[in-house]
Amino acid sequence: MAVFLYQDGEMMPLIEVDDLYYKYGQEDDWVLAGVDLEVETGEFVAIVGHNGSGKSTFAKMLNGLLVPKQGVVKVAGLETKDKEEIWGIRQRVGMVFQNPDNQLVANIVEEDVAFGPENLGLESQVIKTRVKEALTAVGMEEFRRHAPHNLSGGQKQRVAIAGILAMQPQCLVLDEPTAMLDPVGRKNVMSTLHDLNQNLDMTLIHITHFMSEAIQADRIIVMDQGKVALQGRPAEIFGQLDKIKEYNLDLPQVTELAVRLKQAGVDISSDIYEVDRLVNELCLLK
Ligand SMILES: Nc1ncnc2c1ncn2[C@@H]1O[C@H](COP(=O)(O)OP(=O)(O)OP(=O)(O)O)[C@@H](O)[C@H]1O
Ligand SMILES: [Mg+2]
Repeated sequence: MAVFLYQDGEMMPLIEVDDLYYKYGQEDDWVLAGVDLEVETGEFVAIVGHNGSGKSTFAKMLNGLLVPKQGVVKVAGLETKDKEEIWGIRQRVGMVFQNPDNQLVANIVEEDVAFGPENLGLESQVIKTRVKEALTAVGMEEFRRHAPHNLSGGQKQRVAIAGILAMQPQCLVLDEPTAMLDPVGRKNVMSTLHDLNQNLDMTLIHITHFMSEAIQADRIIVMDQGKVALQGRPAEIFGQLDKIKEYNLDLPQVTELAVRLKQAGVDISSDIYEVDRLVNELCLLK
């Protein structure tokens, strides 16, 4: 695992955001209005927040696609405002977007995944190994000779993720990667994210509108009006029903069901965030 140290030997977070302000035009209101955040290497973080709260803008700050108007964004100690560091930052932070069709460039899966490492100027044997490893990591090795346009949405998105992995970033920022997928595709992409986090220690920042996905992260960050409004473990976040309402969020379906069952008189906990636990509690009912 890559660990970054300050000069005094203390561990440095992979991503450090300090009092970040951003707006698109000169006259506009701030879209990001004082974001403070740290993400450690190996963390799996979900970012949620209602439409327009600044999530996608924030995502683009993390690999220097946008740079702060005020404040600081650092990746592995490199500041995104520093033009000389942008290459190093882009290598460390890979971006995955909503629409897999916009992210695939070649007619054969393995050629698509090779595109990034080819642009890095790597030797062909190294590229071959990276492509194989990346496709294996997303469970798409057997499709390596297929045409991307014949794949399902979820498979395409996993190929797009492999294309980023082949450049060996330390962190993936995924902006609603499952929004255009069917339930099976969503499930497979989520399980790929878990594998990457657990097996490769990949740091993940996952922006999503699906609360059922957000609860799968180690930490949830709630954005509201360009700020971090709330952050904590999933149970800490969804335990605060008043805040969930205030920030226009939904409850995860499984929690909603538990709450409603309780309201209907069923003897069940209302703080249930996993399907397994709901099933267990229901099985224990007399
Ligand atoms: N390219 C742009 N030019 C001008 N304003 C923009 C641009 N992109 C986003 N905005 C504005 O910035 C604000 C935040 O948008 P952003 O896309 O970051 O929010 P979001 O949280 O990702 O929303 P969503 O949940 O709909 O994806 C919105 O008011 C939006 O209209
Ligand atoms: Mg967005």
